[in-house]
Amino acid sequence: MSDLFEIVYVSQANEDFLPGELFKILEAARRNNTRKGITGLLLSDGMSFLQILEGSEGAVDTTFNRIRTDKRHRNVTVVRRGPIESRAFSEWAMGSVQLERFKDHVPGLKQISEIAAREDLDFERVRSLITDFQRGRFRQYVE
Ligand SMILES: Cc1cc2nc3c(=O)[nH]c(=O)nc-3n(C[C@H](O)[C@H](O)[C@H](O)COP(=O)(O)O)c2cc1C
Repeated sequence: MSDLFEIVYVSQANEDFLPGELFKILEAARRNNTRKGITGLLLSDGMSFLQILEGSEGAVDTTFNRIRTDKRHRNVTVVRRGPIESRAFSEWAMGSVQLERFKDHVPGLKQISEIAAREDLDFERVRSLITDFQRGRFRQYVE
């Protein structure tokens, strides 16, 4: 059994969320995650987030507990929490995709904020989008 773990969640940015705050979040995330051996991906479109955290169970849980009480977002909804075989984003302490930069010319990207905003989250759709970022057509947009 692998001792690697992941948490995937979606959330909505608070109304007063400013674009510059994403930069601050990524700065803190990369600093802390590097220290804790966490890697992952943060998708954002200014209104919603979809984040994948991967690492040891303890590190992932501790980090997620800090994130979920962050006042910059709300409606934090866990899509998956469980073991993984290997890291999908090992190159990134926290990879970032700012969807608003790509969504008009990349079919499919638009759906993410719709998914995050929905009450009846469709886990299969989330999973298939993540796969596109893990090893599919969207991976080139991770920075
Ligand atoms: C959408 C979102 C994603 C975040 N992702 C991370 C993360 O991956 N790692 C992390 O340490 N903090 C993350 N944060 C920030 C934490 O909530 C918290 O502000 C930060 O960890 C505090 O770190 P500091 O005490 O070093 O400033 C995130 C916050 C938000 C709103």
